[in-house]
Amino acid sequence: MELLLDKNKIPQHLAIIMDGNGRWAKKKGFLRSLGHENGVDALRRVATRSAELGVKFLTVYAFSTENWSRPKTEIDALMSILVSALKKEIGTLMDNNIRLNAIGDIQSLPARCRRELSEVIEKTSANEHMTLTLALSYSSKTELVSSIKQIAEEVKAGRLLPEEITEAHVAKGLYTADMPDPELLIRTSGEYRISNYMLWQIAYSELYFCPKLWPDFKEEDLDLAIVEFQQRERRYGKISEQINS
Ligand code: FPP
Repeated sequence: MELLLDKNKIPQHLAIIMDGNGRWAKKKGFLRSLGHENGVDALRRVATRSAELGVKFLTVYAFSTENWSRPKTEIDALMSILVSALKKEIGTLMDNNIRLNAIGDIQSLPARCRRELSEVIEKTSANEHMTLTLALSYSSKTELVSSIKQIAEEVKAGRLLPEEITEAHVAKGLYTADMPDPELLIRTSGEYRISNYMLWQIAYSELYFCPKLWPDFKEEDLDLAIVEFQQRERRYGKISEQINS
């Protein structure tokens, strides 16, 4: 697959819904938490490979707002895995010149997660090859509501007229304001859903659904997704002849 990859057409921003950790564990007769631990290994492989290929922004769905309704034992396990992964992977981030970033309702995370997150974010803040963003306690609809509230405040204060509101105003109020929109969104585990992930930002993203469960996702699976992305024609509502002329 490596041979077919066009190194000049690598997506700048890649978004991933890392799904299937629980099913992976169940199939093997393991606890679900072991699926999440193996999910961290998959994330390390994919982040390293993405940085090597020249992806500038990798944004992964690590915990949704809806995930708070899972059994407490699983939430606790996930939070502990997050803390130990952050401690363990600082070397991977530094070696690959990757800056860590987090989006979502970070305040709702346990204090130990917030502490570890800010420490790693701070330590990696000068890294500039790629930004790895963890979406944690993330909900795209909540993010959009928050942006709309900021616009409403501007209007209320008389600094903006309703007819002056543009797409740029909405985009500016999102967590992703300083990133380009993802060109490619990958979801693993054979599910064909977006699950409240970056609804605004993926308006023109290519969607790639992979049947593999996240812990089984390897470097070559990422290469395959990017090769397929490169073969698609991105028309943005135009017709083929306009794109090719
Ligand atoms: C989806 O699998 C995955 C998650 C809810 C968590 C994603 C977490 C990781 C990849 C590991 C932790 C990494 C960090 C950075 C915290 P699922 O549990 O929904 O799987 P299922 O659909 O098979 O039950």
